[in-house]
Amino acid sequence: MKTKFVKKFAIAGALMAATAAHATDVEVLHWWTSGGEAAALNVLKEDLQSQSIGWTDMPVAGGGGEAAMTTLRARVTAGNPPTAVQMLGYDIQDWAAEGALGNLNDIAAAEGWNDVVPAPLQNFAKYDGNWISAPVNIHSDNWVWANKAVLDEIGVAQPHTWDEFVAAMAAAKAAGKIALAHGGQAWQEMVVFDGIVLSVGGADFYREALIERKRSALESDRMLEVFKRMETLRSYVDENFSGRDWNLASSMVINGEAAFQIMGDWAKGEFINAGKVPGEDFLCFRVPGSEGSMTFLADQFAMFNVDSAEAKDAQAKMASAIMAPSFQIAFNQVKGSVPSRTDIDRSVFDICAQKGMADLAYANATGGLVGSLAHGHGQPAALKNAAYDVVTAHFNGEFDAAAAVEELSAALESM
Ligand code: BGC
Repeated sequence: MKTKFVKKFAIAGALMAATAAHATDVEVLHWWTSGGEAAALNVLKEDLQSQSIGWTDMPVAGGGGEAAMTTLRARVTAGNPPTAVQMLGYDIQDWAAEGALGNLNDIAAAEGWNDVVPAPLQNFAKYDGNWISAPVNIHSDNWVWANKAVLDEIGVAQPHTWDEFVAAMAAAKAAGKIALAHGGQAWQEMVVFDGIVLSVGGADFYREALIERKRSALESDRMLEVFKRMETLRSYVDENFSGRDWNLASSMVINGEAAFQIMGDWAKGEFINAGKVPGEDFLCFRVPGSEGSMTFLADQFAMFNVDSAEAKDAQAKMASAIMAPSFQIAFNQVKGSVPSRTDIDRSVFDICAQKGMADLAYANATGGLVGSLAHGHGQPAALKNAAYDVVTAHFNGEFDAAAAVEELSAALESM
C-alpha cells in the first residue's frame, strides 16, 4: 500500500516538475536555418538558457518566411500555436487582427521601448496601441555583396552606378566567373527587384509604385526600365540558378566562384560565419543607384496567446532578453542586421553594419526609408504574393518587360 502510494506520489511529483519545467520553456517557430542564421539564433538560445528558459526549436526553412507562415497557420488551426514566432511586418498585424497575439505592454513600459524603438518598427510591433511583438533587428535588402579578391583579379573597382555595375558583371563573365550569384526562388527575385526599383527611381518612386500602388508609377517608363534591368541581371546569372537557396549563392561569392550577390544583409552573416572580414575579403555596398535609400524589414518575435502565468512569464522574459542592449549587440553582430534600438553605440560593429546604421539614420531623416515589399513590409501577404508571381515569371522569361509592367500593375490592383 505504502509503496504504491509513494510510487504514485513520486510519479505525480515528477509530472508536476515536468509540467513546471515545460511552462518556462518557449517553443519558437522561425526560418533561421543557414549557418550564419543558426549562429545568431544560438546567441538567443544561450541568453534564454542562462535565465533557465528552455528552448523547443521549430525551424521551417525558406527566406521571406512563406513556408514558416504556412506551418504557423496549420498549428494555429489545430489549436496549438507556438509560444513565439519569427514574423515580418504585415503578418504580425494580420495575426493581431485575428486576436491571436498576447500583450507585451507591461514589459515594454517597464523597459521604455516606446523611447528606443524607431517609429517605422513600432508601426508593425503594436496593434491598437498595444505592444504585440519584440523587434530583434533591422535588415535591409538593397545590398550587393562582392568577393574582393575576384574584383582585384579582374581589375574592377567597386561599382557606383548602374552602368559601372553592368560593366563589372561583364568583366567578371568575360574572365570566366559567375558574375551574379543568384538563387532562383520567387522571394529572392523579389529581393533583387526591391533594390532595382530603388536604383531606378529612388524611395519616392518605390513608395508611389509599390506601397501606394499608384497606376501612374506602376505603369511608367521607369517601371519598364526596372524590368529591363532585371533582364540584364538575368543574363549574368549561371544556368543552375533555378531553385538554389540564398545561402548557397552567398557561398559562391565567399569561395570566389562568383563576383556579386544582391541580397539582404543576412548574407553578411554567412561571410562572417565563414571567417571573412568585411572590407578585406568582401565588400558591401548598396545596389548601385540606390545609395541614400533603404528597403527595410525587421524580424520580430510575435508572442501568441498562452494560458498559464508561467508561459506568459517566459514570453515576457524572452521579449526582455531580445530588447536588452547587450543582446542586441551580440546577436546583430552575428546576424548581419543592425539593432532595433536607436541607443546602441555604432563603434562596436563592423564596417558593413556601421554603414547599415548610418544609412538607416540618413534614409529615415530624408524620406528614403521604405518597407520592403519582398519581406512583408510593403503590402499584406496577398498583394505581396501576387507581386512575387509576376516578378518571378518575368525573371524566368514568361513575359517581356512591357507585359510584366501590365501584369504587376494588375497584381497590385493599382489605383
Ligand atoms: C528574414 C531574415 C532571414 C532571411 C533569409 C528574411 O525574411 O527577415 O532574418 O535571414 O529571410 O532566411
